Amino acid sequence: MTTTFSEKQVSNSQRSVLIEVQNLSKHFEGLKAVDDVNFKIKAGELIGIIGPNGAGKTTLFNLLTGFLKPTKGKLILDEKKNIAGLSPHKIAKLGITRTFQLVRPFKLLNALENTTVPHIPKSKLTRSSTLKNKATWSLITVDLAEKKNYPAFILPHGDLKRLDFARAMAVQPRMLLLDEPFAGLSVEEAFRVERVIREANEKGMTIVIVEHKLKILMRLVERVIVLHQGKLIGEGTPKEIANNDEVITAYLGTEAKDYE
Ligand SMILES: Nc1ncnc2c1ncn2[C@@H]1O[C@H](COP(=O)(O)OP(=O)(O)O)[C@@H](O)[C@H]1O
Ligand SMILES: [Mg+2]
Repeated sequence: MTTTFSEKQVSNSQRSVLIEVQNLSKHFEGLKAVDDVNFKIKAGELIGIIGPNGAGKTTLFNLLTGFLKPTKGKLILDEKKNIAGLSPHKIAKLGITRTFQLVRPFKLLNALENTTVPHIPKSKLTRSSTLKNKATWSLITVDLAEKKNYPAFILPHGDLKRLDFARAMAVQPRMLLLDEPFAGLSVEEAFRVERVIREANEKGMTIVIVEHKLKILMRLVERVIVLHQGKLIGEGTPKEIANNDEVITAYLGTEAKDYE
């Protein structure tokens, strides 16, 4: 990690706005998967996005990372540049990367190659020493370094989740979007991933997590955004969200009292 100071040390009011989501919508035929959503993410924040299945969380990630083009709206980076509709590659170059809800590694490539492959042509796969160093750093960060030469097809689900995490981190992004990083993990593996997320955030990386495992998420993040049927219905600290009546009705139900 090149960051030498923690953006956490900068008080909240001084943090700059990294990305501002303005009137963002994505329609699939008649379905409003994301419907006129507005929010800001400040540099160094650790944010959770929650909501029922089909709320639009993954679609929002796809819009933020260029995998989908919005029907309407803007994504303003650093209070200057509208990055809505740019390709995933261009957005990654601007420092925004993501993991996927369903991991899909290149099965025959080993862990190290999987960590570098999205970032360079295959012919240069193991030749770029800078990238190899970054990939190795990334695998160490996610606790997977000892398996760097293992082909992906022999790695268990928990390792593949962390491998996808390493791939997204290898370019040392400013903002990392994690789509259900805890799904399908054992308690022990989830604890490991939680520690990796905390450490990356403490070093200054802005992190946004979509997650259904609320017990972990609500203790991990500082702010929560709630989506329901494509709309943003709540925003606040985990405690505020647990006391938000609209959020309780739409999603949390009786579970809300666990996070007050
Ligand atoms: N490529 C697509 N084409 C059509 N409908 C889609 C597509 N992607 C997502 N949707 C629909 O958009 C809605 C939001 O989906 P999604 O963003 O995956 O929700 P979440 O991640 O919150 O579970 C769902 O109704 C889903 O079926
Ligand atoms: Mg999803």
